[in-house]
Amino acid sequence: MAIPWIRKYCPKEPHEIVGQEQAVKDIRSYLDAFPGIRKKALILYGPPGTGKTSSVYALAKELDYEVLEVNASDFRNKQQIQEKLGVASQQKSLFGGSKLILVDEIDGLSGNKDRGGVAAISKMIEGSAFPVIMTAGNPWGNKFSSLRRKAGLVQFLELDHNRIFGVLRDICSKEGIRFEEHALKALARRAGGDLRAAVNDLQLLASDKGLLDRQSLDELGDRNRIETMLSALVKIFKNSDPLIAVHALDSVEENLDESILWIDENLPKEYKDPGSLARAYDCLSRADVFRRRIRRWQHWRFLVYVNALVTAGVAVSKNERNRDYVKYTPTKRILKLWRAKMKYQKRKAIALKIAESTHSSSRRVMKDWFFYKEMFREKDTAQHLADEWDLDKDELRWLTG
Ligand SMILES: Nc1ncnc2c1ncn2[C@@H]1O[C@H](COP(=O)(O)OP(=O)(O)OP(=O)(O)O)[C@@H](O)[C@H]1O
Ligand SMILES: [Mg+2]
Repeated sequence: MAIPWIRKYCPKEPHEIVGQEQAVKDIRSYLDAFPGIRKKALILYGPPGTGKTSSVYALAKELDYEVLEVNASDFRNKQQIQEKLGVASQQKSLFGGSKLILVDEIDGLSGNKDRGGVAAISKMIEGSAFPVIMTAGNPWGNKFSSLRRKAGLVQFLELDHNRIFGVLRDICSKEGIRFEEHALKALARRAGGDLRAAVNDLQLLASDKGLLDRQSLDELGDRNRIETMLSALVKIFKNSDPLIAVHALDSVEENLDESILWIDENLPKEYKDPGSLARAYDCLSRADVFRRRIRRWQHWRFLVYVNALVTAGVAVSKNERNRDYVKYTPTKRILKLWRAKMKYQKRKAIALKIAESTHSSSRRVMKDWFFYKEMFREKDTAQHLADEWDLDKDELRWLTG
């Protein structure tokens, strides 16, 4: 694929950032005032894909800052961060413009394990000769309380779908993409305030055909659904932590029965040693027992067990993770079930016709099915009976086949 549009159309100047005027203004005044302010750092927070990271770069460019970007996870290793920032953060550079330290996505620091990480950032803020800007999806967690005391908070808003539509329309005109207006609007709405997602979807759906229409949107729906299912399977098959696996199916759209079919279908491709495979299938079969109890006694509470068995149960059944890439496929069983059902319905339809002409019930006819089949063995008789019972060609073929 060509260069990603989110890169190509990433705002280079602050005025190109849409829908975040207040936030941009706040960051600018922070940078202007630094270091003569009480709160030495900033936390930019808000939903994904709304311009937090790109605002920092756009402003840095305009105001001539060099951006020193550090990953939140770098702070896990004290020495590493020292090397990366230590000197830089404590003395002004001798030549040229100033520096700005960006700690992107501090949400990456999780819980107790990273106490040290948050402390390290905190310490860096105190000693830094340069502005420190952090970004976060959600800055309200307990773990960030010390950072919140030291940093001003700047909110980025979820982008309004009209705004998103505007950006998409601009891109379409620059890329020479034709679009149906309602389809583009639907795409904008579907992004849920995430401009990055919207731009990515547009490129994926329209760049090849040079067109965005209703049909492209349907493809997107299917693609998203399949993708969520595939990542759910990865959580179950490739990881052994029951606490992660147990939530694997939380965001899939398929109902639990369908999800189980997906797991069932792909399990043997993933678990290769017999022990793991046997334990995993044992979990599935236990889940199935609970499903029957639910159906029989309406004990919906058992759903919790079904879910735990097919996710966490399957996840912990393996001796070790299969490191190979496995291509997951949807189950073929649904198709078989569907065929069986169609077959039954066809039979039922024929039985109804026969029942009417023979003054019996369709159930009776279904019971005597074998005899009717016999009567249709001989070609002329078959045709004769078909005329008599008003069976169409298709039904006749079905009976004689
Ligand atoms: N407000 C905006 N104005 C213009 N383009 C935007 C805006 N927000 C997002 N984009 C587009 O989406 C891409 C990603 O934006 P950015 O990386 O700034 O989001 P973010 O808020 O940092 O998201 P995350 O929380 O996931 O890190 C940008 O490259 C740009 O193409
Ligand atoms: Mg970002």
